[in-house]
Amino acid sequence: MVKAVVLGASGGIGQPLSLLLKICPLIDELSLYDVVNTPGVTADLAHISSRAKTTGYLPNGDGLKLTLTGADIVVIPAGIPRKPGMTRDDLFKINAGIVRDLVTGIAEYCPKAFILIISNPVNSTVPIAAEVLKSKNVFDPKRLFGVTTLDVVRSETFVAEIIGESDPQTLKIPVVGGHSGETIVPLLSQAKPSVQIPADKLDALVNRVQYGGDEVVKAKDGAGSATLSMAYAGFRFAEKILKAVRGEKGIIEPTYVYLPGVEGGAEIAKATGVEYFSVPVELGTNGAEKAYNPLTDTNDYEKKLLEAAMKGLKGNIEKGVDFIKNPP
Ligand code: NAI
Repeated sequence: MVKAVVLGASGGIGQPLSLLLKICPLIDELSLYDVVNTPGVTADLAHISSRAKTTGYLPNGDGLKLTLTGADIVVIPAGIPRKPGMTRDDLFKINAGIVRDLVTGIAEYCPKAFILIISNPVNSTVPIAAEVLKSKNVFDPKRLFGVTTLDVVRSETFVAEIIGESDPQTLKIPVVGGHSGETIVPLLSQAKPSVQIPADKLDALVNRVQYGGDEVVKAKDGAGSATLSMAYAGFRFAEKILKAVRGEKGIIEPTYVYLPGVEGGAEIAKATGVEYFSVPVELGTNGAEKAYNPLTDTNDYEKKLLEAAMKGLKGNIEKGVDFIKNPP
């Protein structure tokens, strides 16, 4: 029996993500939680004739406890999204507290669940989650993931456009670092199959992957940030975890993890100078089984991008850790 949970299920990401999880045959129970509208979203989804039994709760009474008890995988898209002119870091003030409180619930009610953090700024909210779990003595770095799949999805799409590939999903492009602006580093030299990007298009392509989120924020004109593409990406990553847990081998996905806690990660942490980094991770029955070092085969262009990413990440990580260690 697999129980999946969405925290922030009534939101722009939460609703389509919950829909995708509801129709996923790998899930037996889907439990939804939000501070608003959960009964409506739950009643609506519950009429879909798929396998997953659907329940949903508001915070009143034991809402969070009932949602989380027995959960195997918890996806968190709770929090406010960006408006035009905002960076992901601008969201910290509000989202940091939301993630802290929800992960405190996870530590209490389902400490062994896989935790997938979507709430921004991911570069800081994942360290916040880790610090909360550490403080409750239930931190398992193999089970905590920052979801950076949307950056991978965007890379597939934008590269396919340039090279004229009609099926973008045949491309495998590692995107590493973090999940905001210059901390996002697509490693095009490691694409499989290999791709040739014309030199005059390279800068614009990398910039589009790094700032693709801004395109959506601008187009939505005050109505939020990426929701449908993010729901797709969040589901795609959650599904990979569920498949790995069922024993499927060879699943490797970039994700933002606490490196010292994952096999192969300590060496990468030493090379990057930061403890959290998105790297290709092999998923298995226990979660993040092995981290692959993406820095070994990079070219000079990518090395420069990586340097900027490491610098940016350092501050983001410290900010998250500090939020829990020295509460405001
Ligand atoms: P939204 O505002 O449409 O939905 C957020 C939902 O969270 C709302 O329904 C709200 O009621 C709920 N919520 C607020 N506080 C809560 C709490 N304490 N407990 C449970 N639920 C709570 O926002 P949207 O567009 O769905 O974005 C959600 C988050 O995802 C934002 O932080 C956004 O920046 C982030 N995001 C992350 C991406 C990534 O690649 N990791 C991509 C796009 C967005």
